[in-house]
Amino acid sequence: MVDTLVASKLLLDVRDLQMYFPVTKGIVLQRTVGHVQAVDGVSFGIERGKTLGLVGESGSGKTTLGRTIIRLYKPTAGQVFFDGQDLAQVQGAALWRIRQQMQMIFQDPFASLNPRFTIGTLIAEPMHIYKTGMAQEIRSRTEELLRVVGLRSEYMDRYPHEFSGGQRQRIAIARALSLNPQLIIADEPVSALDVSVRAQVLNLLQQLQRQFHLTYLFVSHDLSVVRHVADRVAVMYLGKIVELADRDELYLAPQHPYTKALLSAVPIPDPQIEKKRQRIILSGDLPSPFHMPRGCRFHTRCPMAQSICREIEPAFEAKMGHEHFAACHFSEQVSGAAPQA
Ligand SMILES: Nc1ncnc2c1ncn2[C@@H]1O[C@H](COP(=O)(O)OP(=O)(O)OP(=O)(O)O)[C@@H](O)[C@H]1O
Ligand code: SF4
Ligand SMILES: [Mg+2]
Repeated sequence: MVDTLVASKLLLDVRDLQMYFPVTKGIVLQRTVGHVQAVDGVSFGIERGKTLGLVGESGSGKTTLGRTIIRLYKPTAGQVFFDGQDLAQVQGAALWRIRQQMQMIFQDPFASLNPRFTIGTLIAEPMHIYKTGMAQEIRSRTEELLRVVGLRSEYMDRYPHEFSGGQRQRIAIARALSLNPQLIIADEPVSALDVSVRAQVLNLLQQLQRQFHLTYLFVSHDLSVVRHVADRVAVMYLGKIVELADRDELYLAPQHPYTKALLSAVPIPDPQIEKKRQRIILSGDLPSPFHMPRGCRFHTRCPMAQSICREIEPAFEAKMGHEHFAACHFSEQVSGAAPQA
């Protein structure tokens, strides 16, 4: 299924994307004994200037999907269109130029900034690699980027360890912005930060989106964070998107039991409504993507599973409402949203 939003509005259009990692056995003669199906037939689009939130528990394939989109991995199958261009058809220098338009921000700002370099060097590095200007121009742009992310330009000559987690994530954001990208894939950008600075970094990302008309794929396992930032939300389970909808519709009327279970775990700030919240506890762990369950891959944990679910994989198809898709044989029975604030 391809999200049917008007094609020309889409900056990113992902079609049936697969990323399988081979599993090998043997020491001298290695042979492939199977595959980890980390991403298995994922399709969605993101309109320019919008944010798609991507949620799902650990191991569902979110990071692999982000890395495959920006070609850190070569996909096993499927297509990624960026600004109308099929990335599989673009090679060498042309691919290198397109990559400039797509940047990634990672969860851990401690690991993503090399401690041996000053933050001025780290922010300027992509501009030197892409030769975007003379040394003085790059220096001025680095100072400007520091101001854009709310840091003082005098910090240029300091090292990453001199900054707090929130400040380091701001530095990582400045580095990601240095080449004027159109798309940012933010992989759990606030999960490693203290709760007190999360909101500041989220607000910064939103302000930058407006200022530079950025498009975001925002990965998080925290549905309350995604609700704050996303226009549309995709829910991923074991390598597949199982539900995709506008944010409010997804939160108010989920069409997949997995989405409903995830939503039921989100605490609600209003104590009256919070009292009524019924948590749906999923039994068991996420199955291994090396031994994928037959039929609906959620059937081993689904509280609504029937015998058909163990045999036939449900189609990912349009459900109620506007551009709302889900993969469940019994989605009409899911209704009854989790209590909302
Ligand atoms: N390079 C790799 N080689 C083999 N398997 C991999 C590789 N990278 C990821 N995987 C496997 O693919 C699956 C998806 O992993 P991924 O890191 O994409 O999940 P995730 O949703 O980002 O999880 P988390 O929320 O913990 O970050 C996991 O089972 C993981 O073990
Ligand atoms: S198809 Fe069956 S197992 Fe899968 S989510 Fe729907 S009810 Fe649950
Ligand atoms: Mg991840």
